[in-house]
Amino acid sequence: MKSILVNYVICPECGKDLTLKSKTTKKDEVIDGKLTCPKGHKFNIIRGIPRFVVDKTDGFVKTEDAFSSKWKKFNKSYHDKKWFLYQRNWFLDRFGWKNTQNLNKFLKTRTKILDAGTGIGNSAKLFSSNPDAQVFAIDASMSIEFAYKKYGATSNIHFIQADLRKLPFKKQFFDFVCSDQVLHHTKDTETSFKYLTKFLQKNGLISIYVYNKKAPMREFADDYIRQFTTNMTENECMEFSKDMAYLGKALSKLKKKITIPRDIPILQIKAGTYDVQRFIYWYFLKCFWAEDDDLQRSIGVNYDWYYPKFAYRHTPDEVRKWFKDINVSITHFKEVESGISVNGKK
Ligand SMILES: C[S@@+](CC[C@H](N)C(=O)[O-])C[C@H]1O[C@@H](n2cnc3c(N)ncnc32)[C@H](O)[C@@H]1O
Repeated sequence: MKSILVNYVICPECGKDLTLKSKTTKKDEVIDGKLTCPKGHKFNIIRGIPRFVVDKTDGFVKTEDAFSSKWKKFNKSYHDKKWFLYQRNWFLDRFGWKNTQNLNKFLKTRTKILDAGTGIGNSAKLFSSNPDAQVFAIDASMSIEFAYKKYGATSNIHFIQADLRKLPFKKQFFDFVCSDQVLHHTKDTETSFKYLTKFLQKNGLISIYVYNKKAPMREFADDYIRQFTTNMTENECMEFSKDMAYLGKALSKLKKKITIPRDIPILQIKAGTYDVQRFIYWYFLKCFWAEDDDLQRSIGVNYDWYYPKFAYRHTPDEVRKWFKDINVSITHFKEVESGISVNGKK
């Protein structure tokens, strides 16, 4: 933790300022220590990361454990340059930036950025291009350890283990908040989104991506399978996720297309020609297989879907309503099969 961070964070329990007591430091980096508030709340700094998570309820712990184990197993694959660039380009496309120049031009106008649910920190790295801006990258899971190891030396990124539903910051602190592929994994997507916007300044921008509701047979299969997989052990679910990756691979290798001659409204299938793997994937069963042949990542993507206790799907109308309810105007809205990406201005 950079010692300057103590000037930005507050106690997530009572909102009071925090005092830093360092035990071990390396140059300006606090490796071990404590943050305490006048009311006696204490938060450890362990291995360079302040630890603010306080929620110990079952659903939360299960979801966080799911991600902790995923990142522990797959962090290398997700830090891979190819994956970083793929995710970056997907991000630029979904949120309407088109290219890094446009994103960086926007980032030049920001000074305090929240990356809520940073995972292994790739998005925080993307947001750190403006050296005058501070990026606060939080995650509730142990992924933050891998994020810190990889990007902790970047001078304007702060990695913090925290729950995005109980943030250690003052309201209206940020001018850009991004929560990409995260909110649907919290207890309640809508209330988490609305809570985050409280930390956004007037005229600030919030970007979110949430899972889209799929066609009915796929939704049925997801609900049916998840009642088993969310109760499996980590290893059992990894094995199941591997089975799904192999199935996706086998379908993909077919390299065959099918043509559906007319719409099937009950199944929400449109007439058209589809690759067999994509057809099964979008309409019937999540069996992800990465086109670049990366087995580890494919298992990880399936595991992300099947293991976390919370993995909600939403319709575009629902998402539009959340923004309307709190007067955050939508400046960009993109729906693709997998999810919905929205930018909103407060
Ligand atoms: C699918 S990953 C997305 C990571 C990253 N945003 C990206 O786009 O690569 C979801 C992340 O959200 C985190 N997460 C889930 N619930 C959270 C919460 N309540 N507070 C903070 N992070 C949370 C998980 O630990 C996980 O690392």
